[in-house]
Amino acid sequence: MRKILVSGGSGFIGSYIVERLCRRSDFDTLVVVDNYWTGLPENLAHIRDPRLKLVNQDIETFATAEKFDEIIHLASPASPPWYMREPIRTISANLIGGMHLVEMLKPRGRISFTSTSEVYGDPLITPQPESYRGSVDCTGPRSSYDESKRCTESLLFECQRTRGIEARIVRLFNVYGPRTRPDDGRAVSNFLSQALTSGVLTVYGDGAQSRSWGYVEDIVDAMERFFWLDQIDYQGPLNIGNDREISVLEVAEFIASIVPGVRLEFCPPVPQDPTNRRPDLTICRQVLPGWVARTSYEDGVRRTLDWFRSQIEGGANTEPPSPIRLVDGDDEDGEKDEGGDRAREVDDAQPLVAPIAAAGGA
Ligand SMILES: NC(=O)c1ccc[n+]([C@@H]2O[C@H](COP(=O)([O-])OP(=O)(O)OC[C@H]3O[C@@H](n4cnc5c(N)ncnc54)[C@H](O)[C@@H]3O)[C@@H](O)[C@H]2O)c1
Repeated sequence: MRKILVSGGSGFIGSYIVERLCRRSDFDTLVVVDNYWTGLPENLAHIRDPRLKLVNQDIETFATAEKFDEIIHLASPASPPWYMREPIRTISANLIGGMHLVEMLKPRGRISFTSTSEVYGDPLITPQPESYRGSVDCTGPRSSYDESKRCTESLLFECQRTRGIEARIVRLFNVYGPRTRPDDGRAVSNFLSQALTSGVLTVYGDGAQSRSWGYVEDIVDAMERFFWLDQIDYQGPLNIGNDREISVLEVAEFIASIVPGVRLEFCPPVPQDPTNRRPDLTICRQVLPGWVARTSYEDGVRRTLDWFRSQIEGGANTEPPSPIRLVDGDDEDGEKDEGGDRAREVDDAQPLVAPIAAAGGA
């Protein structure tokens, strides 16, 4: 019987992946390692499967004597306010996490990894095929995420080449749906939270920047096929997303049309906010014949709105985290820091590479 490990399995996408894995009958152990940074225990609380073991720990320090046939590496925030607040932790989750996980694979085992359309940076061509090398600022505000994804792709392809393991890498474009955190901080989530609280949707810039919005069930269908269902010779990277490109303004206007009393407010543009994102799905159609992102964003947004409403009525926070910036002892507003929360966080800063715990655990 096979043994499977999922890092970040209590997150938004991870919880759907774990649900789908539990439908399989060919494994006896499914270990999910998650430190609940952006994920929530509630996301998996409904699953009753004796094969499932949940471990609350950083993937970088997780240790076990067990080796795994399949590993799915999802551990990393996906939302800019979350990864920009803790950029070093983001690099560590992706890259150190990836390096650590490779050592837990059985010979010829398979590691699947969720990379991102952010590897294309602010793209100069549209749609973006997998062969496009990207337009990324390697020290810019998004670099902790973009570059750690790029380097982890490199790591896994090199391990495939030199160690004989199998790597399956997807580049996901924007995914949304139920189980997104109401304080996620990306455009659809912000608009939904704002529609249900202040009633004012903040559009950055003119709102003409476009995104491809993939409904989570559709995207996880494709991931399931690529990671474990289909017999596939192509290892990736594989773009997965919805190739219907929609402007941020269009989404805001749609939400304003379905939630009474909502209005739009325009704010200055966000630095280095990509102007467009749209997957070229040519390879995806060859590798996963018949797969399409079939949920319209109108249906998907309505279902996600219902989810946000239930979470907000239950008292969920809707305010995404703000970035930490240290400027000569001044805080983000230019005022002297008197030793508040931010100073405490800096005092408590973790070493860049956490020590690996002794073998044990799952
Ligand atoms: N959601 C999207 O639009 C999108 C787009 C592109 C790529 N992705 C990628 O897909 C994956 C899942 O994204 P998501 O939207 O579910 O994000 P998420 O933030 O909901 O899930 C990430 C999970 O990883 C956990 N985690 C983070 N660092 C960890 C660490 N060091 N050790 C253990 N657990 C850790 C978090 O607690 C969380 O449960 C991520 O790798 C993300 O980069 C997502």
